[in-house]
Amino acid sequence: MRLTAGHKRWVYRAGALVFVTGVLWLVFHYFLRIHGEFGETPHPLEAWWLRLHGAGAMLALLVVGSLLPIHIRTGWHHRRNLWPGFSLLAVTVALALTGYALYYFGGESLRPVLSVVHWGVGLLAAGVMLWHIRSGHATRRLATISLRGASTELAGDSKNRAPEETAGDAVSPASRSGAFVSLNKTGADRKATAR
Ligand code: HEM
Ligand code: HEM
Repeated sequence: MRLTAGHKRWVYRAGALVFVTGVLWLVFHYFLRIHGEFGETPHPLEAWWLRLHGAGAMLALLVVGSLLPIHIRTGWHHRRNLWPGFSLLAVTVALALTGYALYYFGGESLRPVLSVVHWGVGLLAAGVMLWHIRSGHATRRLATISLRGASTELAGDSKNRAPEETAGDAVSPASRSGAFVSLNKTGADRKATAR
C-alpha cells in the first residue's frame, strides 16, 4: 500500500494542480475583476484557470483510479488508515459529483450553490489530504514497531530454548511472528479466525 516515489509524485502533482487552479480561479473571480468602460468584466485569465482546472480534474480522477486496486484495496484489507482514507475518498467523490453538476446542471439558481459547495469541499480537501498522509505514516510506524517487538520477542525466546527445540526455525523470526501474520490478514482470514 506504500506508494512508489513515482506514483506518489503523480498523486501530489494532480492534487496540487486542481487545488492551485481552483484557488486561482477564486482569487481572480472574486478579487481581480476588471472595471472597464462597460462595467465590471471577468479577468481574461479567469477562464484559463478553469480550463486548466478541468484538465487537472481529469488527471486527478485518473490518479485516484490508479490507487483503487492496490493502495486502497490493501489499506482496506489491513484495516489501516481507514477513517482518513475513506474521508479522503468521500471528499473526492463529492468533488467529482459537484464538478459534474457544475458542467451539466448549471441553472441560474442552482449554479451559485453548487459552486460554493464545490470549492468549499475543495478547500477542505487539502486539510483532509494532510491528515491522511500524517496518520498514514503514523500507522506505518506503529506496524514497524509491533513487527520489531514481535521479532525481538521471538529471538529472545529461541535463545532460551534448547538447540533441538529451535531446529525447525529456519524461517525468519518476523515471518513467524503473529504480528506479521495479522498485518497481512485479509478480511476473510479475520472472519475465519474470529469464528
Ligand atoms: C483519494 C484516495 C486516496 C489518496 C489520494 C491517497 C493518497 C495517499 C498518500 C499520498 C499517502 C502517503 C504515501 C507516502 O508518503 O508514502 C497515503 C498513505 C496511506 N494511505 Fe492513502 N490515499 C487514498 C485513499 C486511501 C484509503 C481509502 C485507504 C484505506 C483504506 C488508504 C490507506 C493509506 C495507508 C495505510 C497509508 C500509509 C501507507 C504507508 O506509508 O505504509 N488510503 N495515501
Ligand atoms: C478531484 C478533484 C476535483 C474535481 C474532479 C473537480 C472538478 C471540477 C469541475 C468539473 C468543475 C467545472 C468546470 C467548469 O465549469 O468549466 C470545477 C470547477 C471549480 N472547481 Fe473543482 N474539482 C476538483 C477539485 C477542486 C479543488 C481541490 C478546488 C479548490 C479550491 C476546486 C475549486 C473549483 C472552483 C473554484 C471551480 C469554479 C466554480 C465555478 O465555476 O463556479 N476544485 N471543478
